[in-house]
Amino acid sequence: MSEGFRAGPLDRDATFYVAGHRGLVGSAIWRTLEAAGFTGLVGATSAELDLTDRAAVFEHLARIRPRYLVLAAAKVGGIMANSTYPVDFLSNNLQIQVNVMDAALEHGVERLLFLGSSCIYPQLAAQPIHEDSLLTGHLEPTNDAYAIAKIAGILQVQAVRRQYGLPWISAMPTNLYGPGDNFSPQGSHLLPALVRRYDEAVRDGLDEVTNWGTGTPRRELMHVDDMAEACLHLLENYDGPQQVNVGTGRDATIREIAEVVAEVTGFQGRTLWDTTKPDGMPQKLLDVSKLAGEGWTARVGLRDGIAATVAWYREHAGDLRE
Ligand SMILES: NC(=O)c1ccc[n+]([C@@H]2O[C@H](COP(=O)([O-])OP(=O)(O)OC[C@H]3O[C@@H](n4cnc5c(N)ncnc54)[C@H](OP(=O)(O)O)[C@@H]3O)[C@@H](O)[C@H]2O)c1
Repeated sequence: MSEGFRAGPLDRDATFYVAGHRGLVGSAIWRTLEAAGFTGLVGATSAELDLTDRAAVFEHLARIRPRYLVLAAAKVGGIMANSTYPVDFLSNNLQIQVNVMDAALEHGVERLLFLGSSCIYPQLAAQPIHEDSLLTGHLEPTNDAYAIAKIAGILQVQAVRRQYGLPWISAMPTNLYGPGDNFSPQGSHLLPALVRRYDEAVRDGLDEVTNWGTGTPRRELMHVDDMAEACLHLLENYDGPQQVNVGTGRDATIREIAEVVAEVTGFQGRTLWDTTKPDGMPQKLLDVSKLAGEGWTARVGLRDGIAATVAWYREHAGDLRE
C-alpha cells in the first residue's frame, strides 16, 4: 500500500485529465467517467497538445492541475505498423509516458492510471497469462519495441510509488474492440478487420469471404466499455505496484468469432480459410483472477458486444479513421 490511498469513490468534481480521450480506449474511459458523474473532465487532441513535446506537456498540466489522470495516449498499431516502424513505437511511447508522468509528478496528480497492453508478456508465457510472468522470457519480436516502452511505463509507475509514495497504478487490457475502433485495412486488429470484411461482402453481394490462417487460434476479446468500467473500479479500489490484467477471462477460436461477425452482419455466404497464411500465437488469454479478486468481472457478452460494434460501424461508415 502506498501512503495516502483510501478505497472509495473518487471526487466527482475534481479535474480529471484523460490523455488520449479521442482514441478507442480514451473515449470509452471518457464516456464511463461522464456517466459516473465526473464533471471536471479535460482532454486535448494531439493537434492541440503533442505529448512528445515535453515543455508543452508541463505547461498543460501546470494550467489544468488535474487531481486524477488516465494515460490512454499512445502510438498504437497492428503487426505491420509495429514491425515496419519500431523506432516510432519505442521512441514516441517512451516520450509520451515520461513527459506525462514527470509532469503529473511535478504538478501533484494524486491518482494516475497507466495503460499498457498484453504484449508486455513473454511470447511463450503460460496461458492464461498471469501478471507474475512479466519479464520472465523473450517478447514477441514483431512488437518488442512497443512492449519495451510499455514495460518501462509500468516500471515508472512502480518507481514513483517507491520514491514518492503516490498511489499510481497500471492496467494491462486484453484485445479490445468497440465504438471508435480503427477499421482501416492497414491499422486494424482482428475484430474491426472482420467487421469491415464481412460488412463489405454483404454490401457487395459476395458469396465468399476468405480469412487468414486456419481459424483455430484462440483469442480473448473485450468490449472497450467493459474495460473502461474496470479502470474506474481499479482507480477506486486498487492500490498496488503490480500491473493488473484487464480481460474477460474467456477466449474463443477465430473461427467462432468470425461466425458471430458473419451472423451479425447478415452475411449468408461461405467463409474460406487461407491456410497458407500464418496463424500467429495458438492462444492469448489473460489470467484475470487478480482483477476478480479486486471485485470486478466483465459483463458484455461477445455476441452483444459485436452486434453493438457492427451497428456503430454502419452508423459511422462516412467518418471512420483511416
Ligand atoms: N486497442 C486495443 O486493443 C488495446 C488493447 C490493450 C491496451 N491498449 C492500450 O490503450 C492505449 C490506447 O490505445 P487505443 O487503442 O485507444 O489507441 P488509439 O485509438 O490509437 O488512440 C490513441 C490516442 O493517443 C493519442 N495520441 C497518440 N500520440 C499522441 C501524441 N503524440 N500527443 C497527444 N496524443 C497522442 C491520439 O490522439 P488524437 O486522436 O488526438 O490524435 C489518440 O486519441 C494504449 O496504451 C494501448 O496500448 C489498447
